[in-house]
Amino acid sequence: MVTVVVGTQWGDEGKGKIIDYLAGGMDIIARYQGGGNAGHTVVLEDKKYIFHLVPSGILYPDKICVIGNGVVVDPVSLFEEIDGLEKNGISVEDRLFIAENAHMTLPYHKILDQIEDRFRGKGALGTTGRGIGTTYADKFNRIGIRVVDFLEEDVFMEKLKIALELKNYLFREYYKEEMLSPERIYEETKIYRGRIKKMVRDVHRYLNEEIEDGKDILAEGAQGTFLDIDFGTYPYVTASNCIAGGACTGLGISPKKISRIIGVAKSYTTRVGMGPFPTELNNSEGDFLRKAGGEYGATTGRPRRCGWFDAVLTRFAASVNGLDELVMTKLDVLTGIEKIKIAVAYEFDGRRYKEYPFNTKVFLHCDIVYEEMDGWSEDISAIRSYSKLPVNARRYIERIEEILNVSIRMVSVGSSREQIIVR
Ligand code: GDP
Ligand code: IMO
Ligand code: MG
Repeated sequence: MVTVVVGTQWGDEGKGKIIDYLAGGMDIIARYQGGGNAGHTVVLEDKKYIFHLVPSGILYPDKICVIGNGVVVDPVSLFEEIDGLEKNGISVEDRLFIAENAHMTLPYHKILDQIEDRFRGKGALGTTGRGIGTTYADKFNRIGIRVVDFLEEDVFMEKLKIALELKNYLFREYYKEEMLSPERIYEETKIYRGRIKKMVRDVHRYLNEEIEDGKDILAEGAQGTFLDIDFGTYPYVTASNCIAGGACTGLGISPKKISRIIGVAKSYTTRVGMGPFPTELNNSEGDFLRKAGGEYGATTGRPRRCGWFDAVLTRFAASVNGLDELVMTKLDVLTGIEKIKIAVAYEFDGRRYKEYPFNTKVFLHCDIVYEEMDGWSEDISAIRSYSKLPVNARRYIERIEEILNVSIRMVSVGSSREQIIVR
């Protein structure tokens, strides 16, 4: 059985915590898209782990973890992460498999990502600078380098020369930056070849055999629905399909094999980087959420923009992902707010939008129709049963369920594994 966990907002919904929680009942945890731009936090016994490329199930010593073909793999970042975990006594290399057809992020992808975003000037996206868009661009441009190509020294060199030809022209003539020689990249990356070779597998075949065998697989989404390249707030998005459908192309499994799709939503909304954000609070309420929620990026440390829960967005996320259920995280952060708001529609140019509009103009200039709810003041972080939550907290959850027409089966009230309420 395959379960997909997907972000329903702009990333950082608390997927890492929920994946870690659910991983206890799974056999395999598999990342299907994104790359080192992800920052998934798991807190276990007061220790905080931030995963970028390693799946968030790795803390269970008996689980197999997989990096699927849809992920872009930066070996420098991957081995930094693996070495950090192994230093903490967590074995990784013997139970992490990498798809041979995953594409590799190489030093020039990161350099170009940073230069390109600088050159966008006012139109900068505020990328994580991890070479994500530039790696996927090479993949679609058919000049990418896959893990399997990296393993063959002569193939790697040949492909490096092709990939660098146009880039070096741009470095020299346009960006006025230092050129990169294929030989240098080859030398800098050769230390990883032997280690990667031991982890490489025909991942799609492996997963399909395990599914046939009755194993439980958790497909770990990175980023979120509104950072999806097709359905997000384009162009302020990442470069992959973060939505649940991405699990099929990013792992090589049939849509028929997916039996459960779980969305993760914060009890409010955050966003890092540029782009429209209708319910953003540029005031003391936004500052309160940032402080109470510790809203600073897990990958870049940037302060996250904060705002009210946007049901227009999450309703769309429920539909495009086909959510069976929703997990609401960080409910504890709302404690102490007198009046909590939920966005239920947008208004622009005399029209009311209850559905997510693809038109960026609407997004940027709309007025928001809010519903206001009474808050609560009790500390809820030690509560483990739904009926013990303050009545206004339950009303808030149940109102969101009603608007989205999706059940909220789990509520998270703190960052550690046990701070969860299962209904
Ligand atoms: P992800 O990218 O979706 O995995 O989310 P991040 O790890 O980037 O950001 C979520 C942050 O919220 C992390 O610091 C988590 O430790 C923290 N967190 C997760 N769930 C909860 C919760 O229910 N309450 C609180 N207070 N913090 C949480
Ligand atoms: P997780 O998995 C939040 C944002 C960046 C930027 C845009 C494009 O932790 O939820 P990119 O480097 O991907 O080309 O940047 O996407 N972004 C994220 N925001 N959480 C993430 O991942 C993100 N990954 C990328 O801030 O706005
Ligand atoms: Mg994150």
